[in-house]
Amino acid sequence: MAANWKMHKTVAETREFFTALTLPAARACAVVVAPPYLAIPAAVEAARGRDIAIAGQNLYWESKGAFTGEISGPMLAAAGCGYVIIGHSERRQYFGETDATVNRRLVAALAANLTPIVCVGETLPEREAGQVEAVLRRQFTGGFEGLDATAAQRCVLAYEPVWAIGTGKVATPEQAQQAQAFLRACVQERFGAELAMGMSILYGGSVKPDNVKSLMAQPDVDGGLVGGASLDPVAFAALVAGF
Ligand code: 13P
Repeated sequence: MAANWKMHKTVAETREFFTALTLPAARACAVVVAPPYLAIPAAVEAARGRDIAIAGQNLYWESKGAFTGEISGPMLAAAGCGYVIIGHSERRQYFGETDATVNRRLVAALAANLTPIVCVGETLPEREAGQVEAVLRRQFTGGFEGLDATAAQRCVLAYEPVWAIGTGKVATPEQAQQAQAFLRACVQERFGAELAMGMSILYGGSVKPDNVKSLMAQPDVDGGLVGGASLDPVAFAALVAGF
């Protein structure tokens, strides 16, 4: 269960979140929190000894250099991150991310020993035009270009239909299942059945405590990538408990 805070929470608010967060002692899923860059050290500190991993929300593909405003994989790893989100639809929509840049970031994340959470998903016009599978196939193929099985097995995929993000309009469990089964078939076609079965495929888009169980009950939905509901420690704890 991964929390993507997007551009929310200061350092002080991050500390407050972790103080207020009470997770079930016995958990059926791994827990990951992706705060904004500035709050990563505070999150790492607060998560210590609690079996909560911290993630970056993005990274640049060079490890250092004259790239004003960017953050690299080795920097995230040195700060204590274990994961990094790559290719979120907001990055694709507002910041010019393409399948090719997703691929470069993915290679850089693996080189820095981070677990990449690679996001894919169609827009509403693409869904209405019957292009869901074509879009998912293109994003998966482009994002994973050149990767071998050893690299691919270290990755997590996240299906995030753009029309369900921040809209309160959740995909039905059947829609999520259908898209994610297709994604797993793409993974299988490229890397074989064993790797495909072992890959975690998360669903993201208006996941809430009242819909988490029905989504997670789908055979190809292995977890959630949560925006809005992850900002509240009580709601996030309910999501982890509801897995
Ligand atoms: P919401 O849960 O706010 O719809 O956001 C989903 C998301 O984009 C997670 O990365």
